[in-house]
Amino acid sequence: MSKPSVLVSGGAGYIGSHTAVELIRAGYDVVIVDNLSNSEIGAVEGVRKITGVEVPFVEADCCDEAAFRKVFEQYAFDSVIHFAASKAVNESVHKPLEYYRNNLTSFMNVIALMREYGRHNIVFSSSCTVYGEPDKQPVTEQTPRKPATSPYGNTKQMCEDILRDSVGAYEGMKGIALRYFNPIGAHPSALIGELPRGVPQNLVPYITQTAAGIRECLSVFGDDYPTPDGSCIRDYIDVVDLARAHVAAIGRMIEGRSKAAYEVFNIGTGRGVSVLELVRKFEEVNHLKLNYRIAPRREGDIVAIWADPTLANNELGWKAERTLDETLAAAWKWEQHLREK
Ligand code: UFG
Repeated sequence: MSKPSVLVSGGAGYIGSHTAVELIRAGYDVVIVDNLSNSEIGAVEGVRKITGVEVPFVEADCCDEAAFRKVFEQYAFDSVIHFAASKAVNESVHKPLEYYRNNLTSFMNVIALMREYGRHNIVFSSSCTVYGEPDKQPVTEQTPRKPATSPYGNTKQMCEDILRDSVGAYEGMKGIALRYFNPIGAHPSALIGELPRGVPQNLVPYITQTAAGIRECLSVFGDDYPTPDGSCIRDYIDVVDLARAHVAAIGRMIEGRSKAAYEVFNIGTGRGVSVLELVRKFEEVNHLKLNYRIAPRREGDIVAIWADPTLANNELGWKAERTLDETLAAAWKWEQHLREK
């Protein structure tokens, strides 16, 4: 019998490439589609090197319906994991139309083509950003969504709704939205990892680039928040653990274990870590000193958010396994590998 096959859109990206690796390790066939707008073909080569599998790659934009249709015509996957999207919160505030066009069009194209070609299961990359600033910690899937504070966050909410309504209406279709907390780290092989373009906006790539001497000094945005050490708190999830959550979600749908056509799961560790704790941990694990200073708060940041991952633990049979030490060591190894290239 042939292996179940999964289309990974955005599979040359940070989370997509790690997910492709874990799918292959779990016995799936994988097809990657990516327009390489914010990723490199090197990530696909990394996936091939790690797995020893010549994963098929199609360079196409999911917004280009005709090009995307060819992928559905050529490959017989029954499931899709849709990563392809623009993801910078701040950029989305300045380019709202680009964000709405790209993130919504590509997602609607995926669903329409799945429907037309009779493909059944889809996992959507959502985000804990849909909870906004939560009233209570940790957040469960029942925690109400708050009005989005950026076009990026709004596209995540809108795509969740499009998915819920579509799988509710189209017989035989199932969908799972995974709400990621803060993905960090890299594959332990250092063959794939995060590739920020320009000045990193996210904490861990900024830390690793500062440690590598590319950035002079890390700014810790705010030490006067109402938290134990005054810096913001997040739930940092290892990207390999996060990738495994997608494998679990696909398995649940393929094996008919879904309890509803549309399901949502928080994907986090359940542990809140402050910015200053993370900085100190990074120094300790990697035996180095990081140049950092306290800077003013960054506009739009929420004070604290961490996950209650109980539902994913029980229903997906998934749990974050990697320690923060391992994750921060992998992030540093990846940064060093990049500099050696
Ligand atoms: N931070 C700094 N200095 C930096 C960068 C970040 O102190 O140079 C702080 C931020 O203020 C924040 C924490 O580190 O307190 C994490 O910031 P990130 O930018 O790494 O992550 P965010 O929590 O802001 O955003 C992430 C994803 C978004 C997603 C969001 C959901 O990048 O895509 O989580 O909460 F929407």
